[in-house]
Amino acid sequence: MTVSSLPEISDGEDKSSPLKNRIRKNYRHIRKWAKRTGTDCFRIYDRDIKEYPLAIDFYAGRFCVHYFSSSDEPRAELVEAATNVICTLFATTPENIFSRTRIKREKTQQYEKAGERKEFFTVQEYGALFWVNLHDYLDTGLFLDHRETRRLVASYCKDKRVLNLFAYTCSFSVHAALAGAAMTKSVDMSNTYTAWGRNNFSLNKISLKNHPIIRADCLKFLDEETATASKYDIIIIDPPTISRSKKMDQMFDIQIDYVPLLTKALKLLSKSGILFFSTNSRKFSLDSKLFNACNIEEISSKTLPLDFHDPKIHRCWKITVTAEPLYCLSKHHIAPGL
Ligand SMILES: C[S@@+](CC[C@H](N)C(=O)[O-])C[C@H]1O[C@@H](n2cnc3c(N)ncnc32)[C@H](O)[C@@H]1O
Repeated sequence: MTVSSLPEISDGEDKSSPLKNRIRKNYRHIRKWAKRTGTDCFRIYDRDIKEYPLAIDFYAGRFCVHYFSSSDEPRAELVEAATNVICTLFATTPENIFSRTRIKREKTQQYEKAGERKEFFTVQEYGALFWVNLHDYLDTGLFLDHRETRRLVASYCKDKRVLNLFAYTCSFSVHAALAGAAMTKSVDMSNTYTAWGRNNFSLNKISLKNHPIIRADCLKFLDEETATASKYDIIIIDPPTISRSKKMDQMFDIQIDYVPLLTKALKLLSKSGILFFSTNSRKFSLDSKLFNACNIEEISSKTLPLDFHDPKIHRCWKITVTAEPLYCLSKHHIAPGL
């Protein structure tokens, strides 16, 4: 698939600004890769220079700037510098630049709505199409740091039964379906994101017949699904770090809940199946001793994309089962209901 929305750099060769120099260099490098791979959404600056604490994501001709700040508002001169550099390098206007201020948040903050413009547009990633919205939500619809994880997972999915938990807008499932998965099942608690996921399937002209999208609490879903004796060949689990919602019985905390979550999911894994587990939690620690009869391989270095420079934000494990039965080793780690 060709990508039409990858502009040439248009500033001549003005070397006066270190921020401009770095973005120019990064973009030129990644543009070649992007054209080759049918991708038009990627990071063009990732806190590369200490004096410019921001990240810039390119989404098919639009820009999302993340300011990392200790207060609600980023410094005005930083905003001005980023805006000027983007406008000159890409011959664009401020209307195409969107921003987020990433401040240290309360632990239980949710994915609340930030606007109502409903301005959705499409991007491509390895030839797959996705709806993105840079204005209305805290997140855009496509987590760019998972690009290589999606590609890696998809490479295992041909003719397989795939379960995608905490599916968000179903980007893993769409890639799996395009790679020839026999079926996918996507589960997420949010009405907004399950609807967005359906739209992503239809954008890629994939019927939902073999690709159901279910609105449910993943932990409850796992209990119910285990009772049906269903099996999956590939399971994807990419949960939030912390989550609390009226739709859930209790708060979800990745560091506490990964043990019951993985243990329950492993019961649904077919004999030669693979479970991919990932997290963006910087502090997360996985204790493999808690899972017997499993082979747990950390694959984070293989899944960090070339445009993301901080390995701490992205961890990923490939888990296979070596024998049955599968139980969590340590009794005091078994959550009620397991
Ligand atoms: C970090 S995102 C997942 C990203 C996604 N896996 C992807 O690759 O794009 C978190 C998602 O988990 C969902 N979520 C949070 N708690 C949940 C729960 N207990 N059950 C189901 N979905 C949940 C949210 O609605 C949100 O869509």
